[in-house]
Amino acid sequence: MQDKIALVMGGGAGTGRATVLAFAREGAAVVIADINEKGGRETLSLLQEQGGRGLFVAADMGNSADVQQVIAQTESTFGALHWVSNNAALGAPNEFVTDLSEAEWDRCMAVTLRGVWLSMKYQLPLIEASGGGAIVNVASVSGLRGDAFQSAYSAAKGGVISLSKTVAVEYAKRGIRVNTVCPGGINSGGMDFYLKKMPEMRDKVLNVHAMGRLAEPSEVADAVIYLCSERASFITGHDLVVDGGILVRSNVIDL
Ligand SMILES: NC(=O)c1ccc[n+]([C@@H]2O[C@H](COP(=O)([O-])OP(=O)(O)OC[C@H]3O[C@@H](n4cnc5c(N)ncnc54)[C@H](O)[C@@H]3O)[C@@H](O)[C@H]2O)c1
Repeated sequence: MQDKIALVMGGGAGTGRATVLAFAREGAAVVIADINEKGGRETLSLLQEQGGRGLFVAADMGNSADVQQVIAQTESTFGALHWVSNNAALGAPNEFVTDLSEAEWDRCMAVTLRGVWLSMKYQLPLIEASGGGAIVNVASVSGLRGDAFQSAYSAAKGGVISLSKTVAVEYAKRGIRVNTVCPGGINSGGMDFYLKKMPEMRDKVLNVHAMGRLAEPSEVADAVIYLCSERASFITGHDLVVDGGILVRSNVIDL
């Protein structure tokens, strides 16, 4: 990835930050976009401490003007774009489908699904003009199965998976591969917040993973880097599950 340009939407913390640092280790210059200016600037400092080149742009992935600004600044600073991870997402409260408000549904969809579409809409022309590349959208195992009390988030992540497959087909002959990663639980700030609020859930959450633990953000980032790299040159429209064995276990017998 030497001399190539990468962009991480939601690069200010967790998996996004780990992905920024992993792109930089591969030699890419990295644009960090995040709604949280403090987190985004911290990631930029970490990137520069490890000798990388980068740029931070404050942006809400659910806002069209902000997304267009990210692309404009990427182009004016680096003149190209090759690799993207659309990683930002916004959940909704844990509620029965009938209790979830219309506003909560709309807020989740605006970032988690529409934001990924908006991002690709403005990223694809620059990637194509740069000679091609790859996009990895971060979905979730919640998008592959029913997750009780998570109707908006699960539907949005399921939408990200099918949207990515559609764009993969549209761009397959235009030099851009599009894939998703579907993580299980990640040891990130978002998960930490949830487990601090409901400590009684910790053992259950760990145990749904056959491996009995959460992913480190770097383990998900590595999957993103692989799907962007030339090693994945014939892979497009794929959803790569990175879940420590959530989906393969039957839950009948505890080991
Ligand atoms: N944490 C988990 O257990 C888990 C499990 C499965 C999938 N995922 C998915 O993995 C991705 C990363 O999750 P994480 O837990 O590492 O995240 P995180 O909460 O640690 O960090 C997310 C980053 O995105 C930024 N962000 C949030 N809304 C944004 C917006 N509208 N515009 C721009 N930036 C925004 C945040 O400021 C933050 O820097 C998300 O797509 C999430 O849905 C997470």
